[in-house]
Amino acid sequence: MSYQKEAIAAHGGQLINRIATPAQRDEFLSKADYLPRVHLDERAVSDLEMIAIGAFSPLTGFMNQADYNGVVADMHLANGVAWSIPVTLSVSTDVAASLKEGSLIRLDNSQGDYIGVLELTEKYTYDKKREAINVYRTEDDNHPGVKVVYNQGDVYLAGDIWLLQRQPHPLFPNYQIDPAASRQMFAEKGWKTIVGFQTRNPIHRAHEYIQKCAMETVDGLFLHPLVGATKEDDIPADVRMRCYEVLLENHYPKDRVILAINPAAMRYAGPREAIFHALVRKNYGCTHFIVGRDHAGVGDYYGTYDAQYIFDEFKPGELGITPMMFEHAFYCLRSKQMATSKTSPSTPAERVHLSGTKVREMLRRGELPPPEFSRPEVAAELARAMQNQLTVSS
Ligand code: ADX
Repeated sequence: MSYQKEAIAAHGGQLINRIATPAQRDEFLSKADYLPRVHLDERAVSDLEMIAIGAFSPLTGFMNQADYNGVVADMHLANGVAWSIPVTLSVSTDVAASLKEGSLIRLDNSQGDYIGVLELTEKYTYDKKREAINVYRTEDDNHPGVKVVYNQGDVYLAGDIWLLQRQPHPLFPNYQIDPAASRQMFAEKGWKTIVGFQTRNPIHRAHEYIQKCAMETVDGLFLHPLVGATKEDDIPADVRMRCYEVLLENHYPKDRVILAINPAAMRYAGPREAIFHALVRKNYGCTHFIVGRDHAGVGDYYGTYDAQYIFDEFKPGELGITPMMFEHAFYCLRSKQMATSKTSPSTPAERVHLSGTKVREMLRRGELPPPEFSRPEVAAELARAMQNQLTVSS
């Protein structure tokens, strides 16, 4: 029996690989000094990486105008495949004017390292307000995703990309498991159903509860914290990863969980990002994806369950991954366990509500989250991180 055949298909049908072969790499390196250069910001670097490793399949490069328009207008690429978030490369009008369509462009990171190549096929201007309203559901520039759109260059560059070389992650090389590898691991473990979990916060008990509810019905959990760019007040990825390590050590069955990093950047696009997060996890080989309360939300821009309702906007089976939706989970003081309004008769006064935002606020005030909120091991890890921060900044 071949597991490969049974594995869930990548989005669009084929897992993309845009990592240059050694021969391509040599050729691109030989042109290093005379290719026109574009500098990528942190998000564009991670987008380049995500495209190259197949996490953004079926994308093979930065979006052209037809794909971009389809995605912004109604969440579909020009060929009809579902996709909810623009993956674009912006430059200033001046830089765009200096670049010729049909040429190869050298892509550098912010340190000036040559990391990839773009075959420029199209340059186009776009309507920032329209992108903000359609993708982020607001034109308020206080929204961190909208702010990025408003502050970026006025022209998008489109075309296929190559990543020159897959480098080990500087902080988490052991947790860098690319889609081809995660698919292989799932097959080796004999997992047929795998639930993906997105997070950008230190794990709290509501996270643990919904993960474990999901684990009751699937073969394995793919714990996939996002470690790309996040907004400044989010907890740094290394602290979050340590919280996961200590929790997994004591509270999860080792053979039913794989912890891996998601190198993507956060967009904070709430509902549309929930679709995007699900499709990315499908590319990693997940069959299911957890969507809880205010998934990928920020501030009060989205309703508590908007990120769940948006799944109804797609035809049955179109996304090719099954969302597992969870209500707002809380610690129930009456029954002394985690619950939701589906499983607990408690009154509002008997519910301790948990969220990443609350944990961050407490930490900022120098308080540690109580045991109803975070497991003691995790609270200890957060305390250590806070202490280090104080030592570093004093
Ligand atoms: S996110 O930006 O990555 O979505 P976070 O790390 O807080 O933020 O959430 C990870 C996942 O857990 C999301 O699916 C989110 O909806 C879910 N979640 C977070 N807190 C709760 C909660 N109290 N109840 C139910 N689901 C939650």
